Amino acid sequence: MTKIGIDKIGLALPNYVLDLKDLAAARGIDPNKYTIGLMQEAMAITPVTQDIVTLGAQAAAQILTEEDKATIDMVIVGTETGIDQSKATAVYIHGLLGIQPFARAIELKEACYSAAAGLEFARNHIANRPEAKVLVIASDIAKYGLNSGGEPTQGAGAVAMLVSANPRILELNWDNVYQTRDVMDFWRPNYSPYPKVDGRFSTEQYTDCLQTTFEHYRLQSGKELDDFAAVCLHIPFAKQGLKGLRALQPSPKHEERFFEAIRYNQQVGNIYTGSLFLSLLSLLEQSKALKAGDDILLYSYGSGAVCELFSARLVSGYRDQLMTDRFEQMSKRQRLSMEQYEELFFETIPIDEMGNSPELPEDNSPFVLTKIENHQRIYHKH
Ligand code: CAA
Repeated sequence: MTKIGIDKIGLALPNYVLDLKDLAAARGIDPNKYTIGLMQEAMAITPVTQDIVTLGAQAAAQILTEEDKATIDMVIVGTETGIDQSKATAVYIHGLLGIQPFARAIELKEACYSAAAGLEFARNHIANRPEAKVLVIASDIAKYGLNSGGEPTQGAGAVAMLVSANPRILELNWDNVYQTRDVMDFWRPNYSPYPKVDGRFSTEQYTDCLQTTFEHYRLQSGKELDDFAAVCLHIPFAKQGLKGLRALQPSPKHEERFFEAIRYNQQVGNIYTGSLFLSLLSLLEQSKALKAGDDILLYSYGSGAVCELFSARLVSGYRDQLMTDRFEQMSKRQRLSMEQYEELFFETIPIDEMGNSPELPEDNSPFVLTKIENHQRIYHKH
């Protein structure tokens, strides 16, 4: 059987960050609630010139060669921060990246889950066309609103994965198991800029979906937790992942790997569809204990709810495809004051009756939203 999986992974984060100790001080909350209670340190903040298109394009541009762009025949974007009810984010990104025209471009939605489905669709597509490559992007901005319960778990960023035959990072094993249950733990009505959240219920659903799906996975696959060198989970905030992992009765080695797998998430916050893959990237780049041939179990959870368990095997030489200076890159982000955070993250774009906005502020990021003209979002590539 053709080996199919993740050949390259790219990450885009906005240039701004809020330290959660500053948020705690401003909200009159003990900072330990955020750093110990939620196990989070900071959250990535976008200005109005950055959205899921610019972040997604930036993450993908980092990893794609001209040859990749000539070979990709499908672009899938998983997101729950859609910028348009009709046109797919993937179409904008396809254009900005200059991917060959005879490609399919679609957007998938199911809360934080959909990029995992995208990965599975990519694998099935390549199983039928081994010469094809598929670009799967998870791009989101998690914004709960000022003074909201979820405020300390906000974040923004995108992860791009190039899926191909004979991948150089991870081979996807054919063992996916999933579950759907119609619950109202987290959702965002069309008229609302922020999600509605039943916080405690959502944390219970996350863990119950994990436990029940894992039981199903064991029966289907015949695999036990000990067959895996590490478990990677969706990380809305790190403590949630730890509670989920502990519900599976992990071994000490799994807990050690878990703490390597949350390091990037703790500095970024929730990036919804990308959180699982940000955690995977953290594990692969930060763990010295992993080796080629190791299997990793992945848990994707999207409120509403759909979840999936699947596994992947590390390929010989996988470290050559990864970065070693990610923390150095993150340390270049500008730390915002509370005033700047409240202004920047919650700014909205004014539009006149003709559908025009003013020119937006300067931003020298690789991809930028420059204005809205005649109701059309105008992007610029630097
Ligand atoms: N020192 C140390 N720890 C402290 C503390 C202090 N001073 N004060 C509180 N804590 C601890 C609490 O004991 C608690 O830890 P445990 O759960 O281990 O007991 C933790 O800090 C959080 O405290 P609370 O439960 O009181 O916090 P809260 O009610 O303010 O909100 C939340 C927590 C409901 C998760 C809220 O952050 C929220 O609504 N978040 C958004 C929803 C979410 O992320 N849900 C996750 C599952 S759904 C999902 O995964 C999809 C998705 O991405 C959204």
